[in-house]
Amino acid sequence: MKNNSAVSGFHKLSTAERLSLLRDLLNLSEEEIANISSSGAISLDRVDRLIENVIGVAEIPLGIATYFLINGKDYMIPMAIEEASVVAACSNGAKVARLSGGFTGYSTDPIMIGQIQILDLDSPEEAIIRIMRNKDAILKTANEKSRTLRESGAGAMDLECRIIGSSDRMLIVHLLVNVMDAMGANIVNSMCEHISPLLQEITGGRINLRILSNLSIHRRSYASAVFKKEAIGGENGVDRILEAYRFAELDMYRAATHNKGIMNGVDAVLLATMNDWRAVEAGAHAFASIGGYHSLTRYSKNSNGDLVGSIELPLAVGILGGSTSVSPKATVAKKILDVRSSGEFGYVLAAVGLAQNFSAIRALANEGIQKGHMKLHARNIAISAGSPDNLIESVVDEMVKSGDISPSNAKRILASLEKNNK
Ligand code: MEV
Repeated sequence: MKNNSAVSGFHKLSTAERLSLLRDLLNLSEEEIANISSSGAISLDRVDRLIENVIGVAEIPLGIATYFLINGKDYMIPMAIEEASVVAACSNGAKVARLSGGFTGYSTDPIMIGQIQILDLDSPEEAIIRIMRNKDAILKTANEKSRTLRESGAGAMDLECRIIGSSDRMLIVHLLVNVMDAMGANIVNSMCEHISPLLQEITGGRINLRILSNLSIHRRSYASAVFKKEAIGGENGVDRILEAYRFAELDMYRAATHNKGIMNGVDAVLLATMNDWRAVEAGAHAFASIGGYHSLTRYSKNSNGDLVGSIELPLAVGILGGSTSVSPKATVAKKILDVRSSGEFGYVLAAVGLAQNFSAIRALANEGIQKGHMKLHARNIAISAGSPDNLIESVVDEMVKSGDISPSNAKRILASLEKNNK
């Protein structure tokens, strides 16, 4: 029976029954069961309604990035992330940007794209003409799905048609929807499904997929900041950062890591506020691929010799609906963040990504990141070696001093400290 994952009816069990089954199947201790099933501020019953086969709530550290001043407004930024240094990097980046007035941010209208795939058309070109001649009726039908958006002058706004493929030419209709302060996936998907029979009737084609695109190219956010040369090692410091940026511009291997760092910051805020960070990740990397995979940030020098950084990325994020309101912690995180619209949320995220990237490439172009990382790595090792809270720092210091950051060394140092403390 052990390790047989084909458990029929697992989804029908209560959380307690699932836990007891796992305990028996995998020989888990009572302590392990208690650890994995603890749920913090949200009841396990509530969690059980959010996803399937629930047994607990995963824990991830939650911190606050400080010093953010964006469009003249101060922000405390909640970030949920397991990786050390990211919250510090964002705060440090924001601290330097603050010396010259902080970040400037902007977001375009929250226009999402829904895609409808139409096949088996004799002439996709002719189908496009038919669709465009019926555009008003199609948009009106789409807008039947949301009275709120419709009454606010938002909702389905426009159509775009594209023909893709060669031997298998297919028509892709883009439904452009202003989703206001929602992330928008649900409403866009509903609208796409709702207009499909009409598109079928108009074109005589066969409809297959009806789903939003995560490359929300029309819903973009921007942030920029000046990083004063005096704060970053003078002219030489600025030049080194520009060289680091050029590396990402010229090389896709570096650009992937450069952009990963940006998303370290963005994703952490999305996770803290329970937004769909996978959607934003997908959009960001697809966006970075347009015209050849490149950096999501840009840097240059101004006439004063200071570093000017900017970022542009698609950000399909909402402050209403979806999962953002079901978690008590995410609700408090949103209160701390205090953004009033999805557009404001977008440019705050963009500023966080820029701050993170600036700090990462500044560190990489100077002392490297391992110096700071080794201490944090040593702390993780000291904790997993069983160090009590009052001895963690001593174990870390000894380990770093010895140059041997390993579980065996942590255990040896811990044993000797405990012996001396007796
Ligand atoms: C690590 O998670 C992120 C960095 O590698 C980003 C970068 O290299 O720019 C430090």
